[in-house]
Amino acid sequence: MRPENISMAGPGKRPQELSQAIAAGITINIESFHELETIAQLSEKTGVQAHITVRINPAFELKASGMKMGGGSKQFGIDEEQLPTVLKRIKVLNLDFKGFHIYSGSQNLSADAISEAQQKTIHLAITLAEHCPAPLKKLNIGGGYGIPYFPGDTALNIHQVGTALAESMAHFKTEQPQADVIIELGRYLVGEAGIYVCQIIDKKVSRGQIFLVADGGLHHHLAASGNFGQVIRKNYPIAIGNKMAVAEKEVVSIVGPLCTPLDILADKMELPVAEIGDFVVVYQSGAYGYTASPIQFLSQPRCVEILV
Ligand SMILES: Cc1ncc(COP(=O)(O)O)c(C=O)c1O
Repeated sequence: MRPENISMAGPGKRPQELSQAIAAGITINIESFHELETIAQLSEKTGVQAHITVRINPAFELKASGMKMGGGSKQFGIDEEQLPTVLKRIKVLNLDFKGFHIYSGSQNLSADAISEAQQKTIHLAITLAEHCPAPLKKLNIGGGYGIPYFPGDTALNIHQVGTALAESMAHFKTEQPQADVIIELGRYLVGEAGIYVCQIIDKKVSRGQIFLVADGGLHHHLAASGNFGQVIRKNYPIAIGNKMAVAEKEVVSIVGPLCTPLDILADKMELPVAEIGDFVVVYQSGAYGYTASPIQFLSQPRCVEILV
């Protein structure tokens, strides 16, 4: 992949990282006025013209999203209303302006909501194009395509999203034929491809409730514990890996080894009867597992990541 097709994103980039990205020819998504000026200074100092896109915080939001990164006041991007001023400033700086990045939300299972946001995103880019210092080369319309985690979740209707996007794209291409459109997917690509496995090291009963104590938990998989942005805790899909065919079941809670009641992987779930030594398998763990977890908590051992 050409370096300029790699993007550096996120608010709060350190000058050293920015210098490295500029030197490597990576495209930097600008998230603030300060960042813009820092990049321009670094670019001038090193004599290397930085490739930039502007991340926009749109006025609209991605409805029905697990997490919203756009709309209202946000730490991400530059508010849509401020774009004409930013673009005017870019015009006088010696930077290679490539286009826009608009990422408005995450974990969305509603095709209607995603399509509406994509349509608004494309419309916004077309509207702002007249203020751009150079023709638009890139339009990153974000992603937010979710995966089903919990009972009652329905998989995203990807065909519906595709059909609506094709229509929006046809319109966009008549207005900005030279621009590439990018979608930025995370968990939709890898979330369902990964499992987290830990082992039961104790089994106990407290006032009638069965607890399976595992050697892993929140510190390896914060999201499955419910502490990564869930308002109401729900159980991830879980199995006892070496007892898939066992018919006898019981209701158990699976907890980790940490000194906090937050360290829980399953709250009163009906699972095959499990014993010490059995393996707990947490599905939908290919995204926001190990790398999104407090792995140093209580100096517990780390888990290993295996690519099969
Ligand atoms: C800018 C940006 N891109 C991509 C992603 C990936 O999101 P997801 O895994 O929900 O697709 C995120 C998630 O927070 C993000 O903030």
